[in-house]
Amino acid sequence: MPLITLRIYLALLAVCGVRLARASINPVEIHEQHFYDSVTREPFFIKGVDYQPGGSSGVSGQRDPLSDAKICARDIFLFQKLGINTIRVYSITPDLNHDECMTMMAAAGIYLILDVNSPMENQHLNRYEPWTTYNEDYLEHVFRVVEQFGHYNNTLGFFAGNEIINDGQSARRTPPYIRAVVGDIKQYIKANSPRTIPVGYSAADDLRYRIPLSRYLECHDADHPDSSIDFYGVNSYQWCGQQTFQTSGYDQLVDAYKEYTKPVFFSEFGCNIHRPRSFEEVEALYSEQMINTFSGGLVYEFTEEPNEYGLVKMNDDGSARVLQDFVNLQGRFSAIESKEFKMIRKNAMSLMATAPLPTCKDSYENLQIDATVPNDVLTSGLKNGVRQERGKYLNIKDSDITSEFEVYDENGKPFSSPRRFAIVNKIEGTAEPSGKQNDQPEKTETSPDGSSKPNGDENEDVKKSNAVSLTSPKFASAIGWAFARF
Ligand SMILES: *[C@@H]1O[C@H](CO)[C@@H](O)[C@H](O)[C@H]1NC(C)=O
Repeated sequence: MPLITLRIYLALLAVCGVRLARASINPVEIHEQHFYDSVTREPFFIKGVDYQPGGSSGVSGQRDPLSDAKICARDIFLFQKLGINTIRVYSITPDLNHDECMTMMAAAGIYLILDVNSPMENQHLNRYEPWTTYNEDYLEHVFRVVEQFGHYNNTLGFFAGNEIINDGQSARRTPPYIRAVVGDIKQYIKANSPRTIPVGYSAADDLRYRIPLSRYLECHDADHPDSSIDFYGVNSYQWCGQQTFQTSGYDQLVDAYKEYTKPVFFSEFGCNIHRPRSFEEVEALYSEQMINTFSGGLVYEFTEEPNEYGLVKMNDDGSARVLQDFVNLQGRFSAIESKEFKMIRKNAMSLMATAPLPTCKDSYENLQIDATVPNDVLTSGLKNGVRQERGKYLNIKDSDITSEFEVYDENGKPFSSPRRFAIVNKIEGTAEPSGKQNDQPEKTETSPDGSSKPNGDENEDVKKSNAVSLTSPKFASAIGWAFARF
């Protein structure tokens, strides 16, 4: 693109209020019931989707949702079209490298909420016999995930558990184990991570447990001060089709959580009884009625799987087709970017109530909380860090941000212009330019327990040798192209 065109283009962007290339991606932090941008200090509302292509079989030792840069490029393009700022991923494996996908997401302005568990052996708690699975192998897995992802600014938070309590038996046996895992992760972060990353829990859509569990996980326990959650995710499918704030029961949800001292959001929502889904609840969720209690939510789910909650259908050849639900949700998300809705969100902070953190009670309705959890499991790993390559941002190439795979609209027609996502944050990679890798000092620290802890990536310099700076003119034209799509 000639310079003059680019200038006009950038001026247009400025007029339209699009902020281009901020210096970096700002970590999101928590202040009382809200998430907020740690630099701009504006409240942060989650506008996102749950993302686990392939479901639980989509994670193995060889692949997971954030391991394939080509698929990430395709899907980040679609995340931006949808208008979201966050995805939640249910499981990854820390054996794989996630630097490319996480860099691209950061550059595109997308945050990640990550569950630390996986369906694989030794990587989750058994909800009926948690004592058999709360062991060194399990905690090592959890700490490795935290070690790897704690180094990315766009890791918004970790879920210590998802729907672990979902029936009478699990409610009798597991609650103290959930608090124990929360405490372990928070202590690990304090001892080893570069910043404080929030840790939460995602609750099943079951009123018998959802509300008492939120109170139990929130409360302050003087003997275990780190074991209370930082945020609470509610899975809710109660707004189906044409409803109102009252008929859906959202009014009661707000009532139940309005004094909650931590952020609450929908970790899953989007009832699919009536299809295509119209997502009317989006307007309610980001309206004045809910904004001071709920910090937004995540629609279940991005890819079409056998249970038919998808927004996008993935094909075997790597191409993707947008479904009608995607178009409907896109319309809803774009409507809440109006001036009026933006104003409501901006003011959320000042309307905030300041309730004191409740201390723990002896009992909570429908839960049994007296199990004693061993507190000496993997203490050395907790203090000194586990052996795990740390995540880091890379210099991504111009070609990395274009999807190689075809993307079709809801009518089955390919998108006409380049399938390229827009860079909204300038990310400085820490990878050395090519040719210099041999001069790099050995990036290995020795922990006090004698184990070595690699924190550099040994093998990607070759692959990255064509890296261009994101601010190069070549890149600017890429940005222009990408913005022209929106
Ligand atoms: C990460 O966040 C910190 C603190 O705001 C900031 O100084 C740094 O530049 C950020 N890094 C990137 C690569 O965005």
